[in-house]
Amino acid sequence: MKEIKITASATIYNDITELSGEDNLLMQKAIEARQNAYAPYSKFNVGAALLLENSQIVLGNNQENAAYPSGMCAERVAIWNAGATFPGVKIIKLAISASSTISKVDKPVGPCGACRQTLSEFEINQKVPFEVLFMGEVGEIVKTKSLLDLLPFSFDSSYL
Ligand code: THU
Repeated sequence: MKEIKITASATIYNDITELSGEDNLLMQKAIEARQNAYAPYSKFNVGAALLLENSQIVLGNNQENAAYPSGMCAERVAIWNAGATFPGVKIIKLAISASSTISKVDKPVGPCGACRQTLSEFEINQKVPFEVLFMGEVGEIVKTKSLLDLLPFSFDSSYL
């Protein structure tokens, strides 16, 4: 028997003005995408923006449905949009922003477990980590150097 330590590091920025120019621009795109979310049921709007190696920015936002489980998260809409539009083009970074029409979201909103798993497939396939930045509507931003920092002991094709 042995104990192991699982460590991941992240940088916390106080607000969007502390981000680099490139990160700030990508986060602004995530915010724009968030404003087009279709979330009439949860009233929780999420936007995601991916910067690709070919300099293209690909967006996604959550798309809900009256049959609730048929809806989809912003991050998966974005990553599948990238996969469909620019297959095989590496992802450099992902920015995520969330807001609610019910209350002010002032804490960073990380991707849900299913989105982390979906995103991990892309990072593993491209063999280069991509950065992940996430925030609420205002306040702190979390930045990791790699998607897999958010998903220890992940499942991947090597198990199949
Ligand atoms: N949502 C996302 O878009 N991304 C996440 O990572 C967490 C949750 C969406 C799904 C649903 O439309 C709403 O937020 C409330 O769960």
